[in-house]
Order: sequence, then C-alpha cells, then structure tokens
Amino acid sequence: MSLIRIYDIISKKREGGALTKEEIEFAVQGYTSGRIPDFQMAALLMAICIKGMTDEETANLTMSMANSGDIIDLSQISGIKVDKHSTGGVGDKTTLIVTPIVASCGVNVAKLSGRALGHTGGTIDKLESITGYRTDIPQAEFLRLVQDIGVSVIGQSASIAPADKKIYSLRDQTATVESIPLIASSIMSKKIASGADAIVLDVKTGSGAFMKEIDDAIMLAKKMVAIGDNVGRKTVALVTDMNIPLGNAIGTSLEVIESAEILQGRGDDRLRELCTAISSNMLHLAGKGSIVECERMVEDSINNGSAFEKLCRMAHAQGGDDGLIRNTDKFPKAQIIYPLKAHKSGYITDMDTQRIGISALLLGAGRQSMEEQIDFSAGIMLSCRTGDYVECGDVLATLHTNSEDRLKKAKEVYLGAIEFSDEKPIERDIILKRIGG
Ligand code: URA
Repeated sequence: MSLIRIYDIISKKREGGALTKEEIEFAVQGYTSGRIPDFQMAALLMAICIKGMTDEETANLTMSMANSGDIIDLSQISGIKVDKHSTGGVGDKTTLIVTPIVASCGVNVAKLSGRALGHTGGTIDKLESITGYRTDIPQAEFLRLVQDIGVSVIGQSASIAPADKKIYSLRDQTATVESIPLIASSIMSKKIASGADAIVLDVKTGSGAFMKEIDDAIMLAKKMVAIGDNVGRKTVALVTDMNIPLGNAIGTSLEVIESAEILQGRGDDRLRELCTAISSNMLHLAGKGSIVECERMVEDSINNGSAFEKLCRMAHAQGGDDGLIRNTDKFPKAQIIYPLKAHKSGYITDMDTQRIGISALLLGAGRQSMEEQIDFSAGIMLSCRTGDYVECGDVLATLHTNSEDRLKKAKEVYLGAIEFSDEKPIERDIILKRIGG
C-alpha cells in the first residue's frame, strides 16, 4: 500500500516545500485516473501557483504529464528531429513558413499543431483552408510522409499528454492558469510527447500575447529551457514582440497566401526576420552549422525556390490542392472586402493586438469555442501599423467577411484598438532576447 497521501502533498506545497518525483507522479496519475478528486487537485494547483516550483519539480511535473499518454517514436526518421512551438499570437503563421524551410535544408520536421481559440489563430485551421488538406492522418502515414518529403504537419491527437488536458481544464476554472511552472510544464509536456530531440520556442510578449510583460515572458522562456535541459532535449527560446500583429495577414487562407509570399522572397520584413531566426536556430540545433551559416542556408532555400516547393509538396501529399498555393488568386474570396479608413491624422502609437485578434474572430476568422466553424475567407489585411503616419481617410486595414453584421462589430473593435498621437513612437525590434542553446 502506498504511503503517499494527496493531503500531505498539498500541505507540503502549501508550506513551500519541494515535492519529490514520486509525489508529483502520484498526484498526476491519481488525478488523471480519477482517484484524486477535482477539489484536492485544485488545492494543489493553487499552492503551486502561490509557492512556485523548483526547476527539478517542474521537469518532473512535465515528464509525468508527457508520460500520461503516447510518446511519439520518431526513431525511424533519420537525423536529429527539431520541433518548434509558439506561445500564440495574432497573425502568427511561422509554422507554415519555417517547417518547409527547415525541411528543404535537410532537417526532417514532424510537427503536431493546434487549432485557433479566442483571439489567437491555429496552424491546423490555416492548413485546412487549403482545399482537401488532411490534418488527421494516422501516425504511421505521418511518419512515412516525414521520411519521404521531410516534413508533415498534422493536428495534435487526444492521446498526447492527456493529463495536461485534464489539469489545464481544471486550471481554467480555478484561476490557476497564471503560474510560470504550470504553463511551462504544460507546453513542454506536449512538446516532449511529440518526440523531437530538440525544440525552438517562440515566446511572445505584448498586447496580443499570453505574457503581456517582457519580464514574465523571459521567466517563462528560462523555465522552459531549464525543463528541456533537465530532460535531455536541447532547447532554445526566442522572446519576441507581439505588440503588433505578425505580418500583414490575419485569418486562415489570408495567412497561407502571405506564407507563400514569404517563401517566394516577398512580403513583410519583420515576419521574414522572425522566420529566419526560428529556422536558423532549428537548423543550428540539428547540427547544421553556426547560426550565421544556418541563416545563409535559410536565405538560399528561399532564393532557390526549394522551401516554397517543399510547402507545395507537403500540401499535395496530405491531399491539399497545391495549385492554390502556386496561384493564390484561386483561393475563394470573401463577399465583403471593406477598406477601413482612419477617422483622424497622426502617428499610430499603439495597436491593442488582442483586440485586433478579436476583430478578426468577429469577422469569422476565429472561434470562441472549439465547436464553432471558421470562415476560411475571413480576416484582416493590415495596411498601417505602429509607427506609421496616417492621414484622415487613409486605409488602415481591409476587413474580409461574408456577413454585414459581423463587419459592423469587427469595425468598431478594430478602430478601438488603434491609438494615434502627433509624436512618432520608438520602433520595437521583433526579436527581443535569445535564451539557451
Ligand atoms: N498553453 C498551454 O499549452 N498551456 C498553458 O498552460 C498555457 C498556454
């Protein structure tokens, strides 16, 4: 009979003690199997929220949650496998750009991604806007595609870290989401269960991010890098700005179109800079050379067209119509494409990026609950961003939707997100810090 009791674990953490590996496993396994009730797990989570966890405890919590379901075995795929993860933002289409770049530079990428929720978008919905693209392919086919093409991106199945799923849902109801060790272990448990040898994290900070303050983002990044180090996965984190939407497009097919542009050497400079940084760090972790050498490989893969071809091949292999990516004019368009004009002149000094994400959601490009359908043609194309001077009547953004009612609400929200002033604001870098490696 076990001598460990959940009551003692809760009181130990309440007093600020460090939990042992056995105690953490007891709590996670007990809760996942239903032996430990919600009220006791909630008490433990609140104690963790208040008292924190050491790096060793956080690593043990991560592994307990990772081991609660399937751990994908990528050993049949050759070479070092590198994964990437973004903590979520608005207009973040980096997976669509980075995964084909890295694959075209000779590093295999087996990527599990999520769906849009709230103001943030999801890679899986963006890929599904490519007609026919299958995101629910079986694991054996997924591994074969990575082996044959070098890259596959599919949806994360329920068998990955089920303990995290159950604990996250309890955290959501008990005001225990905002805890750096709990967030770090939640994200890393899913990454570790996804099987990669090394991980590049894009930790966003700013008005459109989960972490609004840079110091919190740095703390989260350090905690996740420490988990990676503790469990033998090389991990690098980039802390990046999310005070402005990433790139010009927000919405599913609009973001696929922008990704195709970047992969063909065109498009927004900040988005290209971030994608180059993520890709070159992934290649570096895979042993392809120094960061500078890897940056050159990334540029070459764009200039010689191999990265773009890789995206087309991946889409085709997963049942998608790659003709849409080769000629993006063929993507279905929204019935209403509305130029939203500035009501005054001045510099844009601030964009509340979360509100802009909500505006895109209201147009039909996102979902408030997992049951909602996404309108693939809906979204926003930015014409101006923080730092730009606009005259009254200039177009700030173009709103794409299929409903007048949705347009009315989204317009108001978008305009409420923009601040003007007579003074030009200081420009913000996109990459704020690199941690680990
Ligand atoms: N994303 C996750 O996957 N987990 C958290 O706890 C927070 C954000």
